[in-house]
Amino acid sequence: MTRITLVEGDITEQQVDAVVNAANSSLLGGGGVDGAIHRKGGPQILEECRRLRASQYGRGLRTGQAVATTAGDLPARWVIHTVGPVYLVEEYGERAELLASCYRESLRVAVELGARTVAFPAVSAGVYGWPPAGAARIALGTVAEVTADPGFGGGLEEARFVLFGRETYEVFEDVGRELGSTGRE
Ligand code: APR
Repeated sequence: MTRITLVEGDITEQQVDAVVNAANSSLLGGGGVDGAIHRKGGPQILEECRRLRASQYGRGLRTGQAVATTAGDLPARWVIHTVGPVYLVEEYGERAELLASCYRESLRVAVELGARTVAFPAVSAGVYGWPPAGAARIALGTVAEVTADPGFGGGLEEARFVLFGRETYEVFEDVGRELGSTGRE
């Protein structure tokens, strides 16, 4: 059974097999988590992203998709890049599905890689403007649902949400308690 945990901290410092990046469709870097991962992980990550853009991701990574690269100088082995939806209340339903897909696809890639531990940021809850409580409900609900499925690869020991700042951590903690789906570190 995959443990779902919450920690407050910097995702680039996590000792896990795979770190999920809140990327954009260009795969060529940005601010927030994306900026931190490329800054700390070093140029190998961007080099591999460029190769992806020059091959099967010529038009970039679509919202809700996920793709892995090396983690470069990070403590992790892989970075799993995923593109969250920008928050738009008029299209809430469709975009909530895309946000859930970020977690589903990232978990699928993590299992394909053979990762035993994976760290997630609060995808779309920063620049992309998703209200943290809504982002937390989708994130924790999706990861709990996918990892509880009997057909889910048994190799994933931990899905760790790494929240940047006390406020976001407490939102995730409250939602996790509400959903009854997380242990707390
Ligand atoms: N570790 C963990 N979480 C972090 C870190 C970090 N080092 N830095 C930021 N965060 C948090 C933010 O506080 C927010 O809660 O990650 C969450 C996601 O914020 P963003 O990184 O802004 O990601 P997102 O909202 O998905 O927007 C993606 O921003 O950086 C650009 O290139 C990126 O265009 C893309 C967009």
